[in-house]
Formats: sequence, structure tokens, C-alpha cells
Amino acid sequence: MNVHELDEPATTGDPTYEPTSPWWLSGTPLESEHHRLMRRRATPIPWAQTTAASLTDAERARLAGTWMRRSEAEYLAVSTFSVLAIDLVAAMAPADVISLCLRAGIDEVRHAEMCMRMVEIYSGEQKLPPPGMSMLPDDPKRPKLHQALANTMLVSCVSETYATTVLSATRDLTIDPTAQAVLTAIYSDEVMHARLGWSYLRHAIERGGQGVIDAAAEMLPRALRGVANVVERERPAGEVTPAVRDHGLMTPAEERVIFASCVREVLVPGFSALGIPVGTALEDYGDTWAHAA
Ligand SMILES: [Fe+2]
Ligand SMILES: [Fe+2]
Repeated sequence: MNVHELDEPATTGDPTYEPTSPWWLSGTPLESEHHRLMRRRATPIPWAQTTAASLTDAERARLAGTWMRRSEAEYLAVSTFSVLAIDLVAAMAPADVISLCLRAGIDEVRHAEMCMRMVEIYSGEQKLPPPGMSMLPDDPKRPKLHQALANTMLVSCVSETYATTVLSATRDLTIDPTAQAVLTAIYSDEVMHARLGWSYLRHAIERGGQGVIDAAAEMLPRALRGVANVVERERPAGEVTPAVRDHGLMTPAEERVIFASCVREVLVPGFSALGIPVGTALEDYGDTWAHAA
């Protein structure tokens, strides 16, 4: 008997739901539980409305390359939140912080699925990202609160906050309805992933005082460098033509400007408001860095 015969139809209760990237599923009855989980907050994506057919082969290859990078990053983010959840549990973080962190990991599974589907749309290939997991700094000698706080700052306050600013700018230039809907769905989750960190940071400062502020200040340059490394990274080969832009892609130079303004307008004011010293962040990622590409 095929294991799927034990399964209820994936779309039960919601005729608009369809599995996003079924080639990444187990082929066992667990699939229906997975669909239930993924359906919970999902807005339907208009997959059939893609305008990919109007692109040249080179444009499609450029977009497939970028969506593959995105699927790799989203896949790694699943493990990031899993590791962060361990730190938060060890530090006896509040229940809402822990549950939202675990929820964020599930969101990242959905983001990875959507990005893989986009790769399929542009390349025709059902590819998976390479296996792997992200590592977070781990120092068993430091207080658990400081470790949890420092890693939350890295993952959530800095990375996810930057993700929201770059996604929102990218979404604004996107015309293709499918890419627009995917970027919007991912963006709305990343907003919550960032809020999680800022809320925990405030809570931890109230609880741990100066030690927490010091741990946060120490992590800040490292967290900013981590994101800057991604922004500075070589892009997949191929030109960003106007049509490619319409499908949700900006140039590396534009992304530098967005990161610099995120540092200046969001991160530095946010950390300063919490009493966390920001060191040379404004100079490190000012105009010179922004226009270096
Ligand atoms: Fe994500
Ligand atoms: Fe995220």
C-alpha cells in the first residue's frame, strides 16, 4: 500500500492550499501534519501568475541563481532559530520568547519551500539547497543570559531587521505577481522575527542590567560584520536587467546603500535607545562603505 493512502488530502479544509515544493517532503503520512502547520498563517501564493515565460534564458538563469541563494539562506535560518531556542531555554527566557523563536524556525521552513519553488519556476529544476547548519557563538563559561542575549542580537535584532529592510525595498520594485507575493509573505514573517529580538533585548536589560548591555555591545560589531559579509558577497553570474528587477532583484550596490541606511536609521538609533554603545558602527558602514562597490 502506498503510504499516501493513509493520508488525508493535503488540501482538506482549504481549497486554496497546495503543497509548495512537494519534492522536499518525506512521502510519508507526516506530510498532512506538515501541511496543517504550513497552512496556519499562509496567504495563498499565485504560482500560476508567474511571468517567467517572458524572460530570456539568461534572465531566468540569473533569477534562478538568486532564488537558490535565498533558499540556502532560508534553509540555514531553520537551524539558526533551533540553536537560538536552545540558548533561550538554557537562559530561562520568557515562554512567549521561546515559543516565537520555535515558530520562527517553522516560518523559515516555509520560506525555504517557497524559494525552492521559485528556483523551479525560473530553472525548471527541482533542486534542494546543500545540507548544513549555521553555528552561533557558544561560550560555556559565560552566563546563559548573556549568551542568549548576544545570540538573539546577532540573529534577530541585526540579521532579521536588515532582512526586513532589504525585503521591503525589493518588494517595492517587484512587478511579477508571484515574486511579489512570495517576498511579501517572507517579509511579514521576518518583521516578527526581528520584533522577537528587540523585545527580548529590552526584557534582558531590565533583568540583567549592565552585564547584558556589555554583552550586547560586544556582539554588535560582530553581528554587523556578519551581515555586511553577506551584502559584500559575489552575486550569481548574469546581468540585473530591468526585467530581472521586475522579478525581485536589486543590484549589489543598491543593497549596500540599504544596509548602510538600516545601520544609520534603524539599528544605531534602536540600540542607542536601549543604552547599548554602538562603537564605530556609523563610521564603519557610512557613505564610504555604502558606495565602495
Ligand atoms: Fe526567512
Ligand atoms: Fe527570518
